[in-house]
Amino acid sequence: MTRTILVTGGCGFIGANFVRLIRESRPDWRVINVDKLTYAGNLNNLVGINEGERYRFVREDICDTQAMRRLFSEEPIDTVAHFAAESHVDRSIAGPDAFIQTNIFGTFSLLEAAKNAWLDKPGPGNAPCFLHVSTDEVYGSLGTSGYFTETTAYSPRSPYSASKASSDHLVSAYFHTYGLPARITNCSNNYGPYQFPEKLIPLIFNNALHGKPLPVYGDGQNVRDWLYVEDHCRAILLVIEQGENGERYNIGGHNEKTNVEVVTTVCDLLDVKRGLLPGRRRRRELITFVRDRLGHDRRYAIDPTKIRERLGWRPQLDFAGGIEATIDWYLANTAWVNKVADGSYQKYYAEMYGRAIA
Ligand code: NAD
Ligand code: TYD
Repeated sequence: MTRTILVTGGCGFIGANFVRLIRESRPDWRVINVDKLTYAGNLNNLVGINEGERYRFVREDICDTQAMRRLFSEEPIDTVAHFAAESHVDRSIAGPDAFIQTNIFGTFSLLEAAKNAWLDKPGPGNAPCFLHVSTDEVYGSLGTSGYFTETTAYSPRSPYSASKASSDHLVSAYFHTYGLPARITNCSNNYGPYQFPEKLIPLIFNNALHGKPLPVYGDGQNVRDWLYVEDHCRAILLVIEQGENGERYNIGGHNEKTNVEVVTTVCDLLDVKRGLLPGRRRRRELITFVRDRLGHDRRYAIDPTKIRERLGWRPQLDFAGGIEATIDWYLANTAWVNKVADGSYQKYYAEMYGRAIA
């Protein structure tokens, strides 16, 4: 095995896509997937990947420092891809505790385990690498113009983004103070296969498919910069293999869309692929403007010049191609959607917005 990579949160949306990418493209890597299996983690996301020389699944909480240290002593881990997090802004508004615990303390716990294994005693044979997966939301909210670059000052505005910003600062501190070989990526909004149906695109898909109301917060003019998940995973792999320690890399594909544009695109694709609703109604008629998210960031937009120029990364899919691939995947995998949507997010929305959405 040329690398032994610890993937945290490998049963979540992006982590599962990343594990699949490694399996397909790096046959001589061993993957250790550590996941607590929260509501967002699902073993169904990795069906077909079996335990063996190339793969081991460990159900643990990253906040358990002793368990993380034990993993580093059991396995010759030389690479970490740290995805595990609480990731949904609305949940962080309703209940920030788990975000503080997992995103901040969990990252600290992993950093300690990696430092102990790599710096406090003779390290692994390979030059080690700790890749921390972060978000563009740490930079705050943009007006109608401008982009986030790697030097934009952090200005997180939700409990989620504040907890991610804290974890990013801890990673930087471990690089500067102890020399831990760490890198950070800050990516824009992802979409694609295996995304839990509480996030905008799979939630709208699921409701639109079944002719249910499509909740759009506020005026629907908030802008997100959408990236197909496989393009994000390829960027992370590139940063692991060719990036530099102590550096951060913004990842995004210049696909800015308002929420209303995203929702109508999903509706129109479904109308074409599944036919109109009874009464020849178009699905976009289901759009229901609802109370705005508290502190709702207006616009995110990434300037990806650094990763493009230094590492040669380019996204393979634009939004038109990515969203069609995504809708096709969800249509072919409605059983997956039904299985993971166990009702917890519906209950959450009912509490938060005083209404049921599904
Ligand atoms: P997700 O919520 O789908 O998955 C998170 C995974 O982490 C789940 O499998 C969950 O079981 C696991 N997990 C949670 N707490 C844990 C703990 N204490 N110990 C072990 N495992 C735990 O999240 P995602 O959308 O795949 O995001 C992955 C990472 O990428 C996060 O760090 C997120 O901040 C970052 N990110 C996400 C996006 C996006 O659009 N989704 C964009 C940029 C960055
Ligand atoms: P989301 O997928 O939760 O990602 P993030 O908050 O990390 O950007 O939301 C994307 C955008 O869609 C955000 O502006 C909030 C909005 N949104 C809705 O309008 N309705 C919804 O039901 C959801 C979940 C999100």
